Amino acid sequence: MNQADHETVPPGEDHAIERVVDLVLDTMRSDYAAHAPVLRGQHPKPHGSVRAQLEIGLGAPADLRHGIFAEPRTYDAWIRFSASAAPPRSDARRDAHGMSIKVLGVESEHFPGGVGTQDFTLVNHPVFFCRDAIDYAEFAAAVAPEGTMLHGPAAAMRLLAFYLPPNPAYWRIRDSLNLWRTVHREVTNPLQIRYWSQTPFALGPHAVKYSAIPRHPTPRRRRPPPGEDRLREAMARTLRSTDVTFDLAVQRQLDRDKMPVEDATVEWKERLSPFRKVATIRIPAQDFTSREQSRDGEDLHFSPWNTLPEHRPLGGINRLRRAVYERGAAERTA
Ligand code: HEM
Repeated sequence: MNQADHETVPPGEDHAIERVVDLVLDTMRSDYAAHAPVLRGQHPKPHGSVRAQLEIGLGAPADLRHGIFAEPRTYDAWIRFSASAAPPRSDARRDAHGMSIKVLGVESEHFPGGVGTQDFTLVNHPVFFCRDAIDYAEFAAAVAPEGTMLHGPAAAMRLLAFYLPPNPAYWRIRDSLNLWRTVHREVTNPLQIRYWSQTPFALGPHAVKYSAIPRHPTPRRRRPPPGEDRLREAMARTLRSTDVTFDLAVQRQLDRDKMPVEDATVEWKERLSPFRKVATIRIPAQDFTSREQSRDGEDLHFSPWNTLPEHRPLGGINRLRRAVYERGAAERTA
């Protein structure tokens, strides 16, 4: 059975995608009206962009050897660590954090010229807070009506109305808990936490999710250092003297009902299907804070749709992300 072929596009999805694209572009224009350059519509604050390697070893499980995991090989890569809130703000406030991996020098007939890059975009929580594009369009219209993000009590009231509307049959309890948990995790060092793809992807014939698991997670009771950019400083301190390693792991869909492709709010339980390692992400000790490296990192454009066909994105949230990332990147590089 080819699990990667089981997508179901609900009626109204195209219209929802257009609404979200418009809202994202309007929010970028209003957030950065007084600034140049225009920053990313989400994840605008970089903690750091680092040089790395992705090592595909001999030990990748046989059923997962597809796409870039098919053969043992070491690739160079860029990794951008980020905070999601837009516009950027102090690290003293809790937020969701991103790890975007761009694997370089990927050879395939799929790419013009035969060589391209493969992206993986990960966040430090296993599940997303909207099930599909239609729900996300409603969410975005609630929190950013007129394309301007609301803040404070006004935003809280509208979020409450979105997640708990008057008719309890339409309450979105799981979705609201996902959002709360995503933005309230305490993070003291982006190099020492775990990240997930949240949404599913093909891996050859399979549907899978990804996770990057740090070999050395944050020790318990580590107090965050002070400062607006404390997470960048924590990364810089770590990479001054030590290499950092993550395992890149894959979770296969084994049950289409309990591990759905079209509902990004449902966690695929590890007891049903464990994450299995396919590669090592090695970040060598480095000073990533130079002006050139910071600028090169900000010039990168990540998208789940920057991919080999063997790793193509699946599900409604990913179908929505295709237009959002393309149009968002075009807006900020215009
Ligand atoms: C409907 C859902 C989503 C929307 C509308 C959305 C929107 C965006 C936008 C506009 C950007 C900036 C892109 C750019 O200008 O280059 C972005 C970046 C990013 N998104 Fe999403 N996103 C969504 C879901 C997700 C999910 C499910 C994940 C993964 C777990 C994710 C992870 C990231 C990461 C890591 C970045 C930073 C990319 C970078 O470092 O440049 N997003 N997103």
